[in-house]
Amino acid sequence: MPKIRIMRIYLVVVFLCLACLPTAYGLELSPERLEWLRIEIRRHDELYYETGEPEISDLEYDRLKKELVDTEALTERTSSGSISGSDISKHAHRVPMLSLEKAYEIGELQSFHGECARNLGTEELEYWIEPKVDGVAISAVYEHGYLVRVLTRGDGERGKDIGERLVHSGCLPARLQMGAPEFVEVRGEAYIPMEAFERINVLRKDEGLPAHSNPRNLATGTLMGVDEDTIIGRGIKLVFFGWGAWEPDANQPVDYTEYRDWLQDNGLPAIGEVELVRGSKELLESVRRLQRERDGWPFAADGLVVKLNSTHERERMGWSAIGPNWAVAWKFPPDTEESVIESIVWQMGRTGRLTPVAEFKQVVLKGRKIQRASLHNLATLKYRGFRVGDQVRVELAGDVIPAVYPIAGDKRSANNREVPVPVCCPWCSGKLIQSGTGASLDCPNISCPERVKRQLDYFCKTLGMRDVKTRRMSELVDKGIIRGFQDVFSTQEQIQGLSKTMSLPLWRKIQSLGLPGIGKVGAKEIAEEFGSLKEWMKVASMKLDAQAVELVSAAAGFWE
Ligand code: IVH
Repeated sequence: MPKIRIMRIYLVVVFLCLACLPTAYGLELSPERLEWLRIEIRRHDELYYETGEPEISDLEYDRLKKELVDTEALTERTSSGSISGSDISKHAHRVPMLSLEKAYEIGELQSFHGECARNLGTEELEYWIEPKVDGVAISAVYEHGYLVRVLTRGDGERGKDIGERLVHSGCLPARLQMGAPEFVEVRGEAYIPMEAFERINVLRKDEGLPAHSNPRNLATGTLMGVDEDTIIGRGIKLVFFGWGAWEPDANQPVDYTEYRDWLQDNGLPAIGEVELVRGSKELLESVRRLQRERDGWPFAADGLVVKLNSTHERERMGWSAIGPNWAVAWKFPPDTEESVIESIVWQMGRTGRLTPVAEFKQVVLKGRKIQRASLHNLATLKYRGFRVGDQVRVELAGDVIPAVYPIAGDKRSANNREVPVPVCCPWCSGKLIQSGTGASLDCPNISCPERVKRQLDYFCKTLGMRDVKTRRMSELVDKGIIRGFQDVFSTQEQIQGLSKTMSLPLWRKIQSLGLPGIGKVGAKEIAEEFGSLKEWMKVASMKLDAQAVELVSAAAGFWE
């Protein structure tokens, strides 16, 4: 093995050891970090399972979860209120699903080629250049030609089986027709085509629902959370670009060209937007060309993958702890801008929860002007310690949601102000409540005008009413005509605007009330079970609090 490669592996190992130190030696064991991890993981669980809108990748989530498990183990608190736990429904990958070394600059691509050329003793190497499809990594396992499972990547060693719903939805063949080995792991990606993603978001907008943030998250949510009808309805597609185990391995394809033919012969889709090149000059030209074409691709891609064609050459290049030495991921330049926090303000939600929001000097990302980003909750604000005047990096998380990150090494001026956590509600002056763990801040006043306005926003949006109606209702709150949310049903001036909602399905009406824990799914269940607000009231009055009971009976009085 050449010296430079040994050096690289050595550096990777040293880096991994150093990266583990803070938790292993308890340097990061502050109670704040532990608390933050719990809150953050719970928040991501909610985003994933309840709204189907995760903000982070599986890998990032697994990292957080691993840190929590390690930290809990070290502090011997595993059993007390822990939300971590092992997952027994996983299968091992025969060859682990690793990652790829990344190249951000042309020089890094040149040195990738340089190393291949040095190791293999020729400059005239053949590479395939392909889009790096931004979806969910999968591994379809065929034994003697029969599909036995389709695994997600999981932690790289073990993944979850999602095969049943995929095969029923016709995404991949249950049997291989030609050249089936005894055992093969066919590696690829599940994704939502851009066209389907945009269509789904248009429909959601019509329904007054928030847009899905990006195709990758929607693909994850679709594969993990729901039935095969949704998989079909959302148009999930698969594409294959590699293999793990191939047994007996003497029968492996001799090169990627042959593998792509094998995929095609067996009805397994390969990527169409690819180029086969020879040598460094063609490699760089192809990377530039494909990068220019990326907006026309039918799927989201976050870069390109450059991979050696020959299986024999791949074997000679070998693997590092990160991934294969015979391939590299060229990452498209990130959409990120630097800015300065000008203020941190509080935003009221319909449940009375206050969310900190950073306002910063305007930046433009993906053609959008952006100057605000949610800091999610009090815990995140405290943990990240943002101050007014801080330099921040602004990104579009999942290409859609603005997010700010501290800039490493930013020399914060002594003048940068920490924002005080308000004691009283900025709108109604009532006393705010910090939750037991200090993670959130709530205004308990049900007549708080700002809170009522947010409830009305949700109400109007869910019922598909126009913006002008929402603004009109806000004015009525300012004038003191609407004092509590339920007044919307008795205020004469509103009856006219509301009359159009009479014919809406019951579940929409229930959802529009925005009761805690009753979203679209819950509202549909209630509507199905009870058939009317009045029937629901008979049973629900025992379970709901006084305010909710008052609201539901006002709604029943108006709509029924
Ligand atoms: S080749 C060992 N080709 O990127 C991995 N990967 O960072 C060899 N990916 O999780 C993979 N498009 O799921 C390859 N055209 C492509 C790809 C691709 C997307 C994903 C893959 C893996 C990740 C590696």
